[in-house]
Amino acid sequence: MLFGLDDFRYTRERKMIKKIRRFFELVQKRQLWSLLYMRICLYKLREIRGHFSLLFHKLLYHNFSVGKNVRCWGKIIVGMSEDSFITLGNNIRMASDNKRSGIALFSHCKFRTFANGKIVIGNNAELSGVSITSRKKIVIGDGAMLGPNTIIVDSDFHKFWPPEERALGAGFEEDREVIIGKQVYVGMNSIILKGVNIGNHSIVAAGSVVSGVFPADVVIAGNPARVVGKRP
Ligand SMILES: CC(C)(COP(=O)(O)OP(=O)(O)OC[C@H]1O[C@@H](n2cnc3c(N)ncnc32)[C@H](O)[C@@H]1OP(=O)(O)O)[C@@H](O)C(=O)NCCC(=O)NCCS
Repeated sequence: MLFGLDDFRYTRERKMIKKIRRFFELVQKRQLWSLLYMRICLYKLREIRGHFSLLFHKLLYHNFSVGKNVRCWGKIIVGMSEDSFITLGNNIRMASDNKRSGIALFSHCKFRTFANGKIVIGNNAELSGVSITSRKKIVIGDGAMLGPNTIIVDSDFHKFWPPEERALGAGFEEDREVIIGKQVYVGMNSIILKGVNIGNHSIVAAGSVVSGVFPADVVIAGNPARVVGKRP
């Protein structure tokens, strides 16, 4: 009896191997279209994964709202406190998978709120592997583009002093809102710290560490970021 069952399993495995072989033979025969087809399937799978990830977090958190036609490639990571909210506007596009992005992404897109944190992302924004963590308020304007691995925070999250209070002391009094204007372009690997306000249509150079207030229509760059010119 036992022998019979094993035999059955063995034939099933052989059949599966045969099927896989046939698939690869097909791929070899019609190389071009089947590779293209596979690529399209993978692209679609990533988008489906993103779609379900958005849906899952919408069901999980009553305070997580997603606008119309938000497209996301790859899963997103969301964590929320009870009294916070996250609002994603319409027509947002999110690259949240390393393969989807031309430039290496170090993580999926991550949105995290603590206490009364608020994250508001305007319509038509484009995000690539961003990490946005709020304990007060972070607003991203309509049409803003946040390049790969951008990090945005509105808090230091830990008290500086005394050292024994760092782990426990929240330091809420130091939290300050972050506002990124409309159609601002944030270059890859930039860090935007608490209290930042960037005027509409400004450009943040790659790898900038931004703190402070900046006018509209300028290019800012460096660590600490300074105005280096007018935007084109
Ligand atoms: C900001 C940026 C657009 C400027 O490009 P540009 O208009 O051609 O400007 P330039 O290269 O002539 O540089 C202008 C000044 O800014 C400085 N600068 C440019 N990029 C900088 C950066 N990332 N960090 C620090 N300084 C920078 C230059 O050294 C130069 O300074 P100088 O006038 O003292 O010589 C470009 O450097 C950049 O960072 N692009 C971002 C690309 C990116 O992240 N894309 C995302 C892909 S999805």
